Order: sequence, then C-alpha cells, then structure tokens
Amino acid sequence: ADTLGDAAAEKGRYFGAAVAANHLGEAQYAATLNREFSSVTPENEMKWDALEPSRGSFSFSRADQIVGHAKGQGMSVRGHTLVWHSQLPGWVSQLGASDLRTAMNNHITQVMTHYKGEIHSWDVVNEAFQDGGSGARRSSPFQDKLGDGFIEEAFRTARAADSNAKLCYNDYNTDGVNAKSNAVYTMVRDFKARGVPIDCVGFQSHFNPNSPVPSDYQANLQRFADLGVDVQITELDIEGSGQAQAADYGNVVRACLAVSRCTGITVWGIPDKYSWRSSGTPLLFDDNYNKKPAYDAVLSAL
Ligand code: XIL
Repeated sequence: ADTLGDAAAEKGRYFGAAVAANHLGEAQYAATLNREFSSVTPENEMKWDALEPSRGSFSFSRADQIVGHAKGQGMSVRGHTLVWHSQLPGWVSQLGASDLRTAMNNHITQVMTHYKGEIHSWDVVNEAFQDGGSGARRSSPFQDKLGDGFIEEAFRTARAADSNAKLCYNDYNTDGVNAKSNAVYTMVRDFKARGVPIDCVGFQSHFNPNSPVPSDYQANLQRFADLGVDVQITELDIEGSGQAQAADYGNVVRACLAVSRCTGITVWGIPDKYSWRSSGTPLLFDDNYNKKPAYDAVLSAL
C-alpha cells in the first residue's frame, strides 16, 4: 500500500489525523487528509466549550462539518472529548455538585445522541490524573465536587447514550510504565472487575526531548490490553526532525503493531504548520505538505 490509511488497513488498523474544520477549505490540506488517512479526530470542535458554550444550548455545526467530511470519505471518527477540565466553559465550573452532575450527564447524553452511529470511539474522560509520582486524581470541577466516582458515572452514562460506540479513557504521560500510568491501570482493572463499561484506553503520545518515546512503550500498551481493553495511540506527535524523528515514529508504529489490541494510531495534525506545538516540527508533513522522513518511516513500519 502507498498511503498510511491503506497500509494500516492491511494490518487491521486505522491511521488517523486530528483535523480542524477551518482548514478543510484549503485544497492541499483536504487532499492530503483524503489521500492518507482513514480516521479523523476533531482537534477542538467536539470539546465542551465548542459544543455547549452555554447551558443547554448546543452548537454542533463545526463538528458536524468534520463528521460530514469524514463520512463522505469513508473515514471513521474518534469523538474527543466529553468530560475534561480544559476547554470547559465557565458556566460549568460555577455549578454546585448536584447541578454539575446533571450537567455532565446531560452533556454526555446530548452529544452522544446527536452523533449516535457516527463515532467509532469516544474519549469519555480525558486527563483525569495528575502528573508526577502521586498517582492522584487531578483537581477539576468534576473531581473536586463529585469525587472519584465522576469517571465511573461518565462511562455509565455514555454506555446508556450509545451502546455501540467504544468508550475510552484518554491521557498523556501514561505512555510508559510510571506512577501515572499505574494509577490509570489500577482504575481500568477495577472498572473491568466491577463491570463498569470501558472499552479502550487512549495514549496521547505527545513526545519531545523531555518526554521521549519510552523504552517500555510496547510493554505498557500490552499490560493495558491484557486487562481486556483495546488500546489506541490518540494524539501522536514527536518533536524533532530528520532521521532521529523518523526512527522514533517507526518505533511507535512497531510498538502498536506488536500489540494485537492496539487498534489504531492518530497523529495530532497533518502539516507541521498547523501543529499545536506552534514552534516545532512534530508531524509527518512539512509546511508544503511534502512527506518528511518521518512519513516514510511510518509507512515502511506499517
Ligand atoms: C489541543 C489542540 O491541539 C489545540 O488547538 C488547543 O488550543 C488546545 O488543545 N491533549 C488533548 C488535546 O487531549 O485535546 C489537546 O489539543 C492537546 C493535549
């Protein structure tokens, strides 16, 4: 195969990209997306502030634009993300516990119902754990007012809203075995033991010199898979350039392919110029949509 999506499909995986609705009108952007990728994740358009900027009033048009584009191209869609402390509108943080619980469940239900049948996997909860060695939950309106149970409640509400979507927990700095990934692992193991609905764990995989691809990346993906969930690489980007960057990308792809329950890889953008890492070059295409050495390494690893 000579595209990322086709090569991944031969291995039974998807290969996706984060997409911004406002770039879809750029011919080269759309052409590269349509040619190379078999899955999309809206980069910002399905976050709470975009979908429910004020309580009970939903604005789906930008996200619908991406879903419509994906459908037209036969691509699957990852939903990102229902419950997250960031890009959360101010009104949510101001609610008391009882209202917050109602608002959280309503947000999940309304959004998942709107997209029922159109989303392959949902990031139900994003980034609920702290960095560092504590293994503790991150402070957020949900954590602070509803306690640890908010994650379980979000997953149960999500299953009730769309029983066909895969329900994922997604986080960063959980890519290798460390205190943070151990805490997520313990939660997932507990959910599986108690029948709390969870189908997948997303590993964001934002790598840079301070946070390089861990040597135990594959082993970490495998230990989660062994709990009985799928694993997905959800927001991959790797700071760097040239052959060093290419080698890292190849290692990530090989790690996923070595884990049978690693079902797909998403890179967090298409050309470097639109990366959220504004000063860096962490993606597979340069600013003119030329394939970088990292692209060649991914394609040959697939
Ligand atoms: C980022 C987007 O790429 C930016 O455009 C936005 O300004 C901030 O969010 N973890 C996540 C993603 O789960 O949603 C974040 O996306 C990157 C880190």
